[in-house]
Amino acid sequence: METIKLADDLEFSRVVLGFWRLLDWGMDRNELLRFVEKCMDLGITTFDHADIYGNYTVESLFGEAMLQKPSLREKMEIVTKCDIVYASEMVRVKYYDTSEEYIVSQVERSLRELRTDYIDLLLLHRPDPLMNPEEVNRAFVKLKKDGKVRHFGVSNYKPQDYRMLEVYLEVPLVTNQVEVSPLQLENFENGTINLCMEKKIHPMIWSPLAGGRIFSGDSEKEQRVKKALEVVRDDIGADSIAQVVFAWLYSHPAGMIPITGSGILDYVSEPISALKYRLTREQWFMIWTASIGHKVP
Ligand SMILES: NC(=O)c1ccc[n+]([C@@H]2O[C@H](COP(=O)([O-])OP(=O)(O)OC[C@H]3O[C@@H](n4cnc5c(N)ncnc54)[C@H](OP(=O)(O)O)[C@@H]3O)[C@@H](O)[C@H]2O)c1
Repeated sequence: METIKLADDLEFSRVVLGFWRLLDWGMDRNELLRFVEKCMDLGITTFDHADIYGNYTVESLFGEAMLQKPSLREKMEIVTKCDIVYASEMVRVKYYDTSEEYIVSQVERSLRELRTDYIDLLLLHRPDPLMNPEEVNRAFVKLKKDGKVRHFGVSNYKPQDYRMLEVYLEVPLVTNQVEVSPLQLENFENGTINLCMEKKIHPMIWSPLAGGRIFSGDSEKEQRVKKALEVVRDDIGADSIAQVVFAWLYSHPAGMIPITGSGILDYVSEPISALKYRLTREQWFMIWTASIGHKVP
């Protein structure tokens, strides 16, 4: 599979596998290792995590699985995120924490859970209204200097969040991980995708299939989008509407990197087999139009 360059010394597989739903897959560590190896055979080398996934348990399950075959580590890129703090017995309300101390301690925790010495890409998970960007800079510089994190980025950042943070940083931001799908156009409309083009960074795309609603949604909008995807599927001779969604993402000039969220190998193969398709403008806008519910002005 082709790769995509995020920095001079950081290349991702064109399709990333995300572990948000890992607990739903019901895999033990042996099954997880086998699944990861099969994904790597398909060419997926980049794996997306967050400290909070599975209520703070997913990184550890992944780390235990990988411990059985340590030689895999240098063949893969690990992405993880921090700054969301879940409510718990000790924490009365969910909040964000981008303090220097919290970022550094969560990275150290992720390294322990993932059983690795370094993280390839650390993302701040959500914009934090209380952020002191000077503290974030100090955390990033320290983590890089200590060899604990190779590169940094953000997630769910609007242009104003991104620009504010960037001004204070001594290390570059290499991506913004955001939600985009034919059912979620907001990041096209609020300037976030344009910002990625302006900064010449490739956005990582979460929930590209709208978390499965592309197939199962029964609202008017979801039905309209599904019908348009079926028309384009027949046009291009694709096997499924999932492939059309991924082709729609690949047809955008930002070089979008979809994160697939399935534990089923056949589903994981779809964004890969879709790499051969590009949509015409007419096909692309057919899907856009179905989503917004009226023709473009
Ligand atoms: N940065 C953030 O704030 C953020 C937020 C959310 C997610 N993420 C990342 O993005 C990743 C992907 O998100 P997502 O899981 O919502 O992605 P998604 O691909 O939009 O949704 C995955 C769901 O769609 C189903 N599915 C996938 N392919 C299918 C197919 N061909 N036919 C039928 N159903 C199919 C899966 O079913 P099965 O479960 O049956 O496989 C799964 O339930 C996450 O794992 C995480 O790494 C990041």
